[in-house]
Amino acid sequence: HGTSRINQLGHLEIGGCDAVKLAQDYGTPLYVYDEELIRNKCRAYVTAFQESGFRFQVTYASKAFCTMAMCALIEEEGLSLDVVSGGELYTALSAGYPADKIHFHGNNKSPDEIVQALDANIGCFVVDNFYELELLNALACERGKRVDILLRTTPGVEAHTHEYISTGQQDSKFGFDIKSGQAIEAISRSLALPGLHLLGVHSHIGSQIFETDGFVIAIKLLIELLADAKEKDGFEPTVLNVGGGFGIRYVDGDTPLEPGDYVRAITSTVRTECESRNMSLPELWIEPGRSIVGDAGTTLYTVGSSKTIPGLRKYVAVNGGMTDNLRPALYQAQYEAALANRMNEAELEIVSIAGKCCESGDMLIWDVSLPEPKAGDILAVSSTGAYGYAMSNNYNRIARPAVIFVKDGEATEVVARETMQDLVKNDKLLQKQNR
Ligand code: LLP
Repeated sequence: HGTSRINQLGHLEIGGCDAVKLAQDYGTPLYVYDEELIRNKCRAYVTAFQESGFRFQVTYASKAFCTMAMCALIEEEGLSLDVVSGGELYTALSAGYPADKIHFHGNNKSPDEIVQALDANIGCFVVDNFYELELLNALACERGKRVDILLRTTPGVEAHTHEYISTGQQDSKFGFDIKSGQAIEAISRSLALPGLHLLGVHSHIGSQIFETDGFVIAIKLLIELLADAKEKDGFEPTVLNVGGGFGIRYVDGDTPLEPGDYVRAITSTVRTECESRNMSLPELWIEPGRSIVGDAGTTLYTVGSSKTIPGLRKYVAVNGGMTDNLRPALYQAQYEAALANRMNEAELEIVSIAGKCCESGDMLIWDVSLPEPKAGDILAVSSTGAYGYAMSNNYNRIARPAVIFVKDGEATEVVARETMQDLVKNDKLLQKQNR
């Protein structure tokens, strides 16, 4: 997909770059991002909204993959940016990303993080709970500010997705519950707080969603809530944010829709619901994360040891694992792989790809068809662009891989490989006399 193909050497090529050469030049494991594919995804969302006639913001959920180069690319594509921590905010600002296009999410923003965002004059806070409503109001008032907010609501919709990543159902740590009346109460309260300017409401119903029905149901509930708020408080929203969660293809059998299909379902539902209730059309915001970067990322590993249990299974180990991709261990997520240096070989066997961590659960792929892998082969795992680097860690004191962007045959390193020195740079020894 994207700009990937097989070159004359029988090697995998991404963005015009030979993956085997990339592995030689930058080492492995290596995260490789197809820059054109990321840009095309951004444009697909923007174009679909432009065709809808709605005023809109496409906001990239940076939790999926947040680095300075990525924030700069998102600015070039004209997207807004969603951050969920002081760290993501700092990364965006360090990249020169414009503060007024940053939206701050999170269910437990600290006072320090709120002050950091207020001082930077970010565009919008998505307020999650009553505690935050009061805290943000107090900190804004102290600074003589009135800040734009959305209220995150939980409409009670369960997206058909893995339990751990469903966030829209009623029993969730996120947002103001609509069913029990918390959401309408939060609207009334925020209208009365002098440091806050309520723009509208938000919901995010889950992640890796392949259908549009969840969005349709959630939108109906949100617009019903807004109709109640109009009747109760005379509140008319300017913004409706329906979150992210648009799915991508990881393996055969995954059936995501195109960005435009999701957008058209959203815009037509909002139009119908608003017209039937005689409400003016709000500005529409969405927050795709995974679908912007997921399938643009490929991780390259070097094959090392292997172990065959006769009649049972062959394990092939690579020089990374749950430290660079936690998703298989955490969500039983599935991936596809190929040998980047032997793309044209027809004789295949079924093997399981193990990571190198001291943990039995550190398996990247169970049962994948590959040419008999040998030590030194380059294994390419596809669709690792979202929540791979973002959830990477230093378990077993393994250094994080480098990240490169490829485009038109050129590679640019956007995150350097961590060094051994990086691993100990915050460590301190006990003083001898304390022992
Ligand atoms: N907006 C909000 C408020 C969210 O909570 C999320 C994701 C997004 C947008 C972006 O969702 P996306 O378009 O990327 O599906 N670590 C998990 C995914 C967690 C998603 C959490 N929230 C994984 O690797 O599957």
